[in-house]
Amino acid sequence: MSDEATISDLLHENRTFPPPPDVAREANVSGDAFAAADADRLGFWAQAAERLSWETRWERVLDWDPPFAHWFPGGRLNVAYNCVDRHVEVGHGDRVALRWEGEPGDARTLTYLGLRNEVCQAANALLELGVRAGDRVAIYLPMIPEMMVAMLACARIGAPHTVVFGGFSAEALRTRIRDCDAHVVITADGGYRRGAASALKANVDAAVRDCPDVRHVVVVRRTGQEIAWNTELDVWWHDLVDRQSSEHTPDFFESGHPLYILYTSGTTGKPKGILHTTGGYLTYVAWTHWAVFDLKPETDIYWCSADVGWVTGHSYIVYGPLANGATSVMYEGTPDTPHQGRWWELVEKYRVSILYTAPTAIRTAMKWGADIPRRFDLSSLRVLGTVGEPINPEAWMWYREHIGGQRCPIVDTWWQTETGGILITPLPGVHTTKPGSAIRPLPGISAEIYNDDGHLLPRKDAAGYLVLTEPWPGMMRTIWGDDERYRETYWSRFPGVYFAGDGAKWDTDGDIWLLGRVDDVMNVSGHRISTIEVESALVSHPGVAEAAVVGSPDPTTGQAIVAFVIPRGRPETDGQTFARELREHVTREIGPIAKPKQLLVVAELPKTRSGKIMRRLLRDVASNRELGDVTTLTDSSVMDLIKEKLPNAP
Ligand code: WTA
Repeated sequence: MSDEATISDLLHENRTFPPPPDVAREANVSGDAFAAADADRLGFWAQAAERLSWETRWERVLDWDPPFAHWFPGGRLNVAYNCVDRHVEVGHGDRVALRWEGEPGDARTLTYLGLRNEVCQAANALLELGVRAGDRVAIYLPMIPEMMVAMLACARIGAPHTVVFGGFSAEALRTRIRDCDAHVVITADGGYRRGAASALKANVDAAVRDCPDVRHVVVVRRTGQEIAWNTELDVWWHDLVDRQSSEHTPDFFESGHPLYILYTSGTTGKPKGILHTTGGYLTYVAWTHWAVFDLKPETDIYWCSADVGWVTGHSYIVYGPLANGATSVMYEGTPDTPHQGRWWELVEKYRVSILYTAPTAIRTAMKWGADIPRRFDLSSLRVLGTVGEPINPEAWMWYREHIGGQRCPIVDTWWQTETGGILITPLPGVHTTKPGSAIRPLPGISAEIYNDDGHLLPRKDAAGYLVLTEPWPGMMRTIWGDDERYRETYWSRFPGVYFAGDGAKWDTDGDIWLLGRVDDVMNVSGHRISTIEVESALVSHPGVAEAAVVGSPDPTTGQAIVAFVIPRGRPETDGQTFARELREHVTREIGPIAKPKQLLVVAELPKTRSGKIMRRLLRDVASNRELGDVTTLTDSSVMDLIKEKLPNAP
């Protein structure tokens, strides 16, 4: 478990907040949903699937060939039609789908009709480039409306997309393009971050140099910055898309047709391509978005501040909200540009009523001070959400008080790239919340906690490993190209159940508290990064013989990356310069999010007699805690050497 201190803190948390009576009265979902799902789980999901338009109704709710789930087999649908066209057909063409604001202050509004037209044009453009159903398309874009348009255009023609977060390096982009064998890449010249135009196209150029199968690079002009142009590959989005017809008749695909591949970190160096399909996934994100945020599509203004490059953006910026006909806000830039009140200014300007963000953003706002949000009118807000990592009770209370004006219910939503959508969360009109607890599994979700031996623990005052014992419609289909790794990673630790990789606890009321990852995955500002990925990046530097990486608690980012490095021979430069060079090397290999906050050059690493690095000890050192058991170390003096390197070591 990540942090003993957190567990004991949690035991003392006794502040509770019942659902506000007006929210409970009007809520989309009441407590009855739990009884309904308990009585007939598959029937419950069949009913949720009625939220979608199916061209052909499914034959069965679920084919379950463990661990492979095929939801709504035989059903045929088109995801883009469900997210866009059908809203236009029932007379909501004028409803705003997206209110987008660029970092420099430029803005665009897209109605459902406008979005439909652009998606059709982009779909026609992809067809012109030769993209067909089943072909993969890589998307590497900033947070601009074309991100949404490009994803929906792919979905419309049945071409699975793989969105790569714009903060990833050329190298990370290259491995993803190659792993899923994408032949088309959609990118932009750059995007605005922290008041400046940051380059994207240059990374694509570097990445595709080693991807001989990439045939086209479509480039959105966003910043107008100078870029290199390869006439063999590159085509401007506006040259290609704008001249296309805004009519496109969608094909309908079987419910198990792939929708997207999204790479995420696992416990090895190689990212996993999580594959999501259409019928079950869209059912799940539509239902959960409507239920968890209590969405009223006619009146709510919904804003999820995540980047579309992560799963939160896929499920709760693009697919869930659009399937529900919601009006969303999207913002391109950073929260402190041009001033630290930018987010709250956006809430005031667009009258945002539902805000979904991450604990790290809340802790950052806390650090900047409550005076900043106080300057803005936040009275439009009615439901607040968080996701990505455990939220510490103080940040939860600050969010409630300074953003939610003590009146908005907070939904602390637990889920993963693999789960497709939210699994554990309070419902705004149903549950009494507690700062720091994700409360209960949603109706139809079978979450349990197992002990180390795989025994089911009672739902009261017990801690262990979080598992899912029944399939759910949003679950991943497999790891792209690697069924065996899928089985091994998620279904072998405890045979027959899905192992999430998180520690969790039931409290005395039977509410769930998430306790952090139990494997070698770190969580930095809500981003998943594996220790081994960073280690591999470090040892790929010629000056490094060996590296060990751990996460240490950090007040703002949740965890911070600490690296211990053994140099190969004597470093040519002084320690400081060497450490700086290595940190830059990791940025080049993976991206800035993986850059170690602290990097210690050491002579030895603690190892067991069988040669395994003892990360637990390194974690203790990095967290400034007393050392644990060192008796299995080959050389226990190693730890003294390491401790000397740390400024505040005990
Ligand atoms: C962590 C993000 C505690 C968890 C949607 C999980 C959380 C990992 C919460 C998945 C939460 C996410 N409370 N921990 N509310 N939400 N996590 O794949 O460790 O980027 O396994 O998906 O984030 O991260 P991922």
